[in-house]
Amino acid sequence: MEKPNFELKIPNLSPAQVTELVRRRESIWRDFQASPPGFTSLLTKDYTELKKFARAQRGKWESVLVLGIGGSSLGGEALVAALGRAKPVVRFLANVDPTEFARISKQFNLKKTLIIVISKSGGTLETIANFLALKTKLNKAWQKQVVVITDPEQGYLRRLALREQLTTFTIPPDVGGRYSVLSPVGLLPAALAGIPLDELLAGAREVDGPDAFLFALTHAELYRRGHAVTVFCPYAQSLRQLGQWYAQLLAESVGKSPTVGITPVVALGATDQHSELQLWTDGPADKFFIFLGVAKFATDVKIQTAPSAFAQLKGKSLAQILHAELAGTVSALVERQRPVAVFDLPELSARTLGYLLYFFELEVAFLGHALGVNPYDQPGVERGKELTRKLLGK
Ligand code: PA5
Repeated sequence: MEKPNFELKIPNLSPAQVTELVRRRESIWRDFQASPPGFTSLLTKDYTELKKFARAQRGKWESVLVLGIGGSSLGGEALVAALGRAKPVVRFLANVDPTEFARISKQFNLKKTLIIVISKSGGTLETIANFLALKTKLNKAWQKQVVVITDPEQGYLRRLALREQLTTFTIPPDVGGRYSVLSPVGLLPAALAGIPLDELLAGAREVDGPDAFLFALTHAELYRRGHAVTVFCPYAQSLRQLGQWYAQLLAESVGKSPTVGITPVVALGATDQHSELQLWTDGPADKFFIFLGVAKFATDVKIQTAPSAFAQLKGKSLAQILHAELAGTVSALVERQRPVAVFDLPELSARTLGYLLYFFELEVAFLGHALGVNPYDQPGVERGKELTRKLLGK
């Protein structure tokens, strides 16, 4: 299979300027290679045990419910939304919301549901609250239906797992939450949803570091020129969740001071052409657009007949129409000198998803370095957690 490729359509940025950018930023590339961040090592880890466990669980449960939030849920959700099989249903509960909780408790036979609790710190309030609220509804021997994914040594969940002898998988301490999708955090839900992990990881390994580096430098340069908003817009319904994952990655990694931060906007083509395209083309020139198009969908539908007013639709497939929509949007933006990147995905597969996830992780890590901020911490998030805990009376 071909790997995805991308094209940058950036006004007033010639290839010579890009070469100059890369030359000026060579030190970032060298530093990165000399001491690669923890998430890069996930590609070569041995997941035999995890795959074995997932195989043994599939067929045993009616459904799988994943409790986790932020980096402990968005990557897995993106994978399952894009590629998950219909059975077993793999559902995510991130928010603390009584209505959603009630809906899930009603929809699922919780005694026949595998519960995966994911938290790197092992103590995120929302996740623990959902777990405690759910625990009373599980089997008496709830320990047999709960799996924990957390830090190898620290935190409430690790202590609970030791005490109750729960099955556990580990998040390596040097891998931040939002960079953890290719660890058990994303891989276990993916495997349970029937996604082939070897393909996923093979796709990730196909990413060319310098490509992601070039993309990041261009992104950084656009930000410096006033493009402080990045619109992530796949033209495929099942990739919408990938946009949510990218939004967290970008927002938390780069938003680090009153003067540095890029605001992510998640959109969906062609739907949001009918709500946001007007702003994109004629509104402020403060956005950089990342589009994703799928060359070949797993299934397609042809329009057999059409009235004369829509004669152009006759014989066209829905995928063809979607491609035309994407091409039209890109042209409209380029016409207005708006900076655009277009990813051409050969198909929606584990390999393609693996490629995209790892490409954007590398890109955002480089982007943080290029903008002079630490792309791996999240002090603002931690402060919010601390204040919430205080308010609840700890
Ligand atoms: O990126 C991050 O670090 C955060 O969004 C966390 O993923 C989120 O707060 C959940 O944290 P934890 O995995 O510790 O429960």
